[in-house]
Amino acid sequence: MDLRVVAELIWAGAAAAGCALLVLSAGTAGAQDFPPERVRAGAEIFARNCSPCHGTRMQNPESAFDLRKVTRDQHDRFVASVTRGKNQMPSWGDLLTPDEVEALWAYVMAGETK
Ligand code: HEC
Repeated sequence: MDLRVVAELIWAGAAAAGCALLVLSAGTAGAQDFPPERVRAGAEIFARNCSPCHGTRMQNPESAFDLRKVTRDQHDRFVASVTRGKNQMPSWGDLLTPDEVEALWAYVMAGETK
């Protein structure tokens, strides 16, 4: 076996290990943050309260904000806007508990594909 083959074998091994690690960490992070039942609870609250404006299952929001564009770092803004309302959007603070707002957040973050 010449040196080049040995180097390639080491490289392939390292790449495989790296991939496994990536898959592993991505899997646990998602599951930890948003258990499926939490996302389902959020989906139900969304269907009842938010879909008339933000679109059924977050698809095709008419004039309202596209919730698929919300990113993970916008949690506080999400909670504030939903609780207190924003411009044309009514406030939900009196209708939804903080826990329900968090379930909505889980749903928005998990998205519709998962
Ligand atoms: C009556 C229609 C209507 C309903 C119902 C509604 N929204 Fe909205 N929503 C809007 C409009 C319009 C905007 C855009 C507000 C703006 O930026 O001027 C908006 C914006 C938002 C934003 C972005 C706010 C920001 O920080 O820019 C979030 C998040 C949001 N809505 C979540 C929700 C959730 C969750 C529900 C269900 C509890 C909901 N909305 C129900 C009309 C609605």
